[in-house]
Amino acid sequence: MKELQSVKQRFGIIGNYEGLNRALDIAVQVAPTDLSVLITGESGTGKESFPQVIHSFSLRKHGSYIAVNCGAIPEGTIDSELFGHEKGAFTGATDSRKGYFEVADGGTIFLDEVAELPLSTQVRLLRVLESGEFIRVGSSKVQKTDVRVITATNIDIIQAVAAGKFREDLFYRLNTVPVRVPPLRERGEDIFLLFRKFSVDFAERYRMPAIRLDNQAREMLLSYYWPGNVRQLKNITEQISVIERERDITATILLSYLPDLKKDRLPVLVKDRDEKGFGSEREILYKILFEMKSDMHDLKNLVFEMISNGGEISSLTETGLKAVNNLYTSSPLQKTESHPAHSVTLNFPGQREKSLIQDTEEVLEESLSLSDREKDLIQKALGKNNGKRKLAASELGISERTLYRKIKEYGLDA
Ligand SMILES: Nc1ncnc2c1ncn2[C@@H]1O[C@H](COP(=O)(O)OP(=O)(O)OP(=O)(O)O)[C@@H](O)[C@H]1O
Ligand SMILES: [Mg+2]
Repeated sequence: MKELQSVKQRFGIIGNYEGLNRALDIAVQVAPTDLSVLITGESGTGKESFPQVIHSFSLRKHGSYIAVNCGAIPEGTIDSELFGHEKGAFTGATDSRKGYFEVADGGTIFLDEVAELPLSTQVRLLRVLESGEFIRVGSSKVQKTDVRVITATNIDIIQAVAAGKFREDLFYRLNTVPVRVPPLRERGEDIFLLFRKFSVDFAERYRMPAIRLDNQAREMLLSYYWPGNVRQLKNITEQISVIERERDITATILLSYLPDLKKDRLPVLVKDRDEKGFGSEREILYKILFEMKSDMHDLKNLVFEMISNGGEISSLTETGLKAVNNLYTSSPLQKTESHPAHSVTLNFPGQREKSLIQDTEEVLEESLSLSDREKDLIQKALGKNNGKRKLAASELGISERTLYRKIKEYGLDA
């Protein structure tokens, strides 16, 4: 444990998440052996420190360490870069040249984005891994080298094998020890440690006070999908540090820096920032929105199933068609913005679907109006807490004052 902390410190790795610790522990354990290590993990998860950790804890630490980004080298020159070439081997080869495998003899090579290697290079790589032998491009002389190979990829390499783009035998050879670097969204509270570190670093670099997040912004940090992982967090922390004058960052400000959200990856989000008193009601709205979102999801599946199981579109009533239309053309969030009262009934006249239809009607007749759902929720909370507003408000996650206003608004005090 203590050793891991010092490794983290030395390599600037922040975080205590179990999955991250496990990955680092494997790296340290496997370092003194010569086993091949394949590091996998989404883009921006921090894979690049791992081969450095492995090399510096290995017996080769005084040998050379060469990192090669296989994705950045053109297909035509990669063999020559890795294995060298002889004079005249190809047009422009005016001199002979050593490749990385020759230079790194006695050391470590890190092949980043290894899945990008062309198949012909994969054959050469397999050979050097199995026998230590390689041949310079344009030569016939077999040479020997002693190199430890560490590889990394952010793509699903098993899928690449299945698609015939990556040799299966090479995959097994590289994957002797797999190390999985977990995505940021899995790491829970680590995200706050990372954010604080980055915000302090950028504050120092740009000579200004560090930015801080309010509670809702912190929540958003936790619930966001982070497709670009730690790299994305670092980038937006830098952007916010530089661009925002305000040092206390709210969820609304933060949201404007979180682009490209797929619908099913939405963080806690409410668009209507100008609506009065909105802040205190957010939580209840989140609850409702998420409930609605999952209802919608179920509905879509159900309706789709019914249609593909033989329920004719032409046999739908007008209301039914409208419901299908609503479900498939707009997102739940778009609907809540205009607050329409959605109360829809689907009527399939077919006999065969009868039992299914009855269930469906129950689901579909449930009101999807935001205010109806809110009112209902408030009533339930009041009932459950014997009319005690303080308790009901705290259960709903809103302030007593807001609850009081809502009770008046919906006439629940009558
Ligand atoms: N645990 C961490 N602590 C501190 N900084 C980190 C951590 N993980 C990643 N970073 C930083 O995030 C950035 C991205 O990391 P890195 O380049 O290693 O990603 P990667 O996994 O190699 O991504 P890709 O697959 O896109 O190459 C780097 O600036 C790195 O320093
Ligand atoms: Mg990388």
